[in-house]
Amino acid sequence: MKTFYIETFGCQMNAHDSEKVVGTLVREGYQQVPDEADAGLILYNTCSIRDKAEQKVFHRLNEYKKLQGEGKRFAVIGCVAQQEGEKIFEKAPYVSIVAGSSSYRNLPEMLARLEAGENRITGLDDRQTDETFDTEFTARSNPHRGYITIIEGCDKFCAYCVVPYTRGKERSRTSASVLAEAQRIAGQGYTEIQLLGQNVNSYVDPSGRRSFAELLSAVGEVNGIQRVRFTTSHPRQFTKDIVDAIDAMPALCDHIHLPVQSGSTSVLKAMSREYSREWYLERIGWTKAAKRDISLTSDIIVGFPGETDRDFEDTITLLDEVGYDAIYGFKYSPRPNTPAIHMVDSIPEEAKVERLAILNARQREIQRRNYARHLDQTMTVMVEHGANSRGQITGRSSQNKTVNFSCEIVPVIGSYVDVRITQVFPSSLVGEAITAPAAPSPALLAQQALNARVPVLR
Ligand code: SAH
Ligand code: SF4
Ligand code: F3S
Repeated sequence: MKTFYIETFGCQMNAHDSEKVVGTLVREGYQQVPDEADAGLILYNTCSIRDKAEQKVFHRLNEYKKLQGEGKRFAVIGCVAQQEGEKIFEKAPYVSIVAGSSSYRNLPEMLARLEAGENRITGLDDRQTDETFDTEFTARSNPHRGYITIIEGCDKFCAYCVVPYTRGKERSRTSASVLAEAQRIAGQGYTEIQLLGQNVNSYVDPSGRRSFAELLSAVGEVNGIQRVRFTTSHPRQFTKDIVDAIDAMPALCDHIHLPVQSGSTSVLKAMSREYSREWYLERIGWTKAAKRDISLTSDIIVGFPGETDRDFEDTITLLDEVGYDAIYGFKYSPRPNTPAIHMVDSIPEEAKVERLAILNARQREIQRRNYARHLDQTMTVMVEHGANSRGQITGRSSQNKTVNFSCEIVPVIGSYVDVRITQVFPSSLVGEAITAPAAPSPALLAQQALNARVPVLR
């Protein structure tokens, strides 16, 4: 029996890549096991975004080394694999496959070579490929939210970011193939779809049929789909028709993650983000003018080379002006191959730590005010976890907020319940179910039984 174990790090795209890699391996006759000790092939799907990620990978590979005597094979895949390439074989000679995400469509061939006893098998990208990794064999680990990649790679080259070097050039799938996948998973009982791409706003339908906003609406119209999310949006190509589509179609969730990175136009310029503070705020204006209450979230980097106190203050005032419902704040870290690696990492670690703490404290205050608007509102919640020890059930609102609620009948995971909000916190809501949960579809129950047999990815 061919067995494998996989560990996954990084963003949603990486998690979904792993679902496709697992599906491919299963199709090739491999069985997934939850413990590396029982696996013939160990895969490590890596992320390289921050914090000396490659060193952590090598450290981890060293830990794996002790397993090598038992005839195991190792594969390093994902962003660190692409970044470090064949250097991985030098540092960890027991690794047999090094492959970046642009080469996963060749996995069956790589596995055949592995089984034939070959070593040092590479699948590395040269930013040339136009092909995407589409497969019907996706082992979906999330029983209620189905991920669909619409665009791979990135052509933006923000000064601090490794992604254009680790995921290859931008390439979109045809809207027809995205819709076919949406219909297929809706048929399996999924009611929520999340469209994925490092920059979904650069989506260009190779068949020329649909814009990104039109694709969003078309997915929202798929029979059985109740919620459509998308991530990540880039302000440079964010267009007003996206807001209009959300306004027009309730199935499109009222949430936009629109990372700003900095509130200072001069820092944005140094980051090569290709927009100014004013450009960004104009787009925020469109979402605020919408009929629906669209929740906004963002990513922010503090301590980019040359960021002055004044620049940082601009980021703080931008938080106040936008009033995000959540932010993900990061301390800048220099990354290999990126243009910013040649800039002096001028902000001392203590200053970065301090700025991040100030940023998070201010955001917490903003959320305290923001979340208060939900008191006494009724919202539809998709159930994600059954009752905890206090009998509370956890789910998510369309705005992607966590809602903990009580309900007489414990609803099935993946079902939708209307909840009245009785208490508000800075990052969660508490309420009571006001409707009996709708019975889940037989298709959803069948899919959940199937998913229960696929070990959940870490
Ligand atoms: N494609 C997405 C972001 C992908 S990376 C976008 O353009 O918004 C996720 C987040 O990690 C980024 O938004 C950024 O805030 C952060 N990040 C990326 N590189 C970083 C670095 N070198 N140091 C610190 N944070 C970084
Ligand atoms: Fe990185 Fe910028 Fe591309 Fe986002 S848009 S993945 S931050 S290079
Ligand atoms: Fe990490 Fe690669 Fe995603 S670097 S954040 S896994 S695109």
